[in-house]
Amino acid sequence: MASNVNIEFRKLFINNEWVDSKSGKTFPVINPSTGESVADIQEADEADVNQAVQAAKKAFERKSTWTQMNASQRGELLIRLAHLIKDNVSIITELNTIDSGKPLTASIGEVLQGVSLLTYYAGLADKINGQTLLSDGPVFSYTRREPIGVCGLIVPWNFPISILCMKIGPALAAGCTLVIKPAEQTPLASLFIASLFKKAEFPAGVVNMVPGYGPTAGAAISNHMDIAKVSFTGSTEVGKLILKASADSNLKKVSLELGGKSPNIIFADADLDYAVEMAHQSIMYHSGQICCAGSRTYVHEDIYEEFVKRSVERAKKRVVGDGFDKKSESGPQVDEDSLKKILDLIESGKKEGAKLHCGGKRMDRSGYFVEPTVFSDVNENMRIGREEIFGPVQSIFKFKTIDEVIEKANNTHYGLAACVFTKDLETSLTVAHAIKAGTIWVNCVNYFSPQQPFGGYKQSGIGRELLVYNKILRLSLLYSLQIKTCKIILYCLTYSMKFCVYEMI
Ligand code: NAI
Ligand code: MG
Repeated sequence: MASNVNIEFRKLFINNEWVDSKSGKTFPVINPSTGESVADIQEADEADVNQAVQAAKKAFERKSTWTQMNASQRGELLIRLAHLIKDNVSIITELNTIDSGKPLTASIGEVLQGVSLLTYYAGLADKINGQTLLSDGPVFSYTRREPIGVCGLIVPWNFPISILCMKIGPALAAGCTLVIKPAEQTPLASLFIASLFKKAEFPAGVVNMVPGYGPTAGAAISNHMDIAKVSFTGSTEVGKLILKASADSNLKKVSLELGGKSPNIIFADADLDYAVEMAHQSIMYHSGQICCAGSRTYVHEDIYEEFVKRSVERAKKRVVGDGFDKKSESGPQVDEDSLKKILDLIESGKKEGAKLHCGGKRMDRSGYFVEPTVFSDVNENMRIGREEIFGPVQSIFKFKTIDEVIEKANNTHYGLAACVFTKDLETSLTVAHAIKAGTIWVNCVNYFSPQQPFGGYKQSGIGRELLVYNKILRLSLLYSLQIKTCKIILYCLTYSMKFCVYEMI
């Protein structure tokens, strides 16, 4: 099982040119389905980031082609980019599967989601309006929403293309210029997309891409004095480093989309088959490597035993394999470090008294595969009940009352998302309003759409993605206060949507 796709782009993309890194260093890209190196990529570090920032800064000068461009023309460039990605969907999909190991169906879904995001922001580019303000006294006042300047976009490896598009769409629609660092595990599909910026005719320097490692290239971005804003998705640990770097450098604005330990609450009146499948998908999809994965499954005591039994049967049936194998429902973990972290947490679960029903081991094959794993009798004092595992490990907790489950669900320093399964409107809204998390899915899981903002409470992050006002534009204070507590509650309107939900992730 392999791909014959040509890996054409292996350099840094700066000022619309492909260049070698100044140090001459390269780093290997490993296909996680095989554990083998597939390409060596030029490795950016501080000196290259400086060069990219200088190009982005020049492109943002007052009389540059980009800053003089009409907003509708920026929208047109974004639409061109979206079309170019669609025209090259097969190659980008294959590169994405080599990078991340995810199955081709998931990979194509992700690339098309990227296209939808860019299309949405292309349409928004010429609709970024300010307000006129009624003021006391003989003054006329108004607000303008302005691009903030050079933005550093630091992208993780779990959804390298949709998260890339989620960040570049609003930033370019608003008129910012960019220095992008893809994750070291997954640069291939992103570098291919970099080649399309030039084809779409973005002016030189507007978009620059510097593949490299976090502590070097990533840190150079977050410490840079000429970067006005960093948008980061990744671990809470690195999110804190980025906030520190901002404080120690130029107080650059940051938006952080970080980890999660999202509760998935199943009440006794829920459709059991449906809830079992949804709870399974919400943690097993993409091998659990999702920031908003339903990693704490809370089940009402009346249906607990049956729910656990069916969840174990479902997990045992899950087909895990090479991303290029059409039968695979999920692929490998992204790398050896991730695999080790997951196996360590599984061992801790066993030691701390959770009941292991299936899985729990590395699969006996090359690549970084973990068996779909189900634990019951989990509580919030156990490491598997508290820490982000980022692997295919379902932890099932028991509850009795609505107040108890709300308290338990909120007993975490994360607050990215939550799911509720019930047929009762009052129960669903009570829980949805009481849970401290940025997105609440009711009778559905991991449902995304370009029109819906996304982001976390507590240590799951700062700011909201997919919201042009928060992301790259200066705000009136009132507006930013309002959106700090923005929460989105999504209802699955009919159960007939059930199985299309995953294709839309
Ligand atoms: P990470 O947070 O280290 O990496 C994410 C991105 O940040 C990558 O592009 C990386 O190169 C960059 N980065 C790393 N260190 C940096 C630094 N000092 N300064 C600036 N940029 C830096 O995440 P990692 O190590 O890949 O995964 C560790 C855990 O983080 C995962 O097991 C998972 O729990 C969580 N994670 C959460 C993600 C999410 O979607 N919120 C995505 C990836 C990881
Ligand atoms: Mg890391």
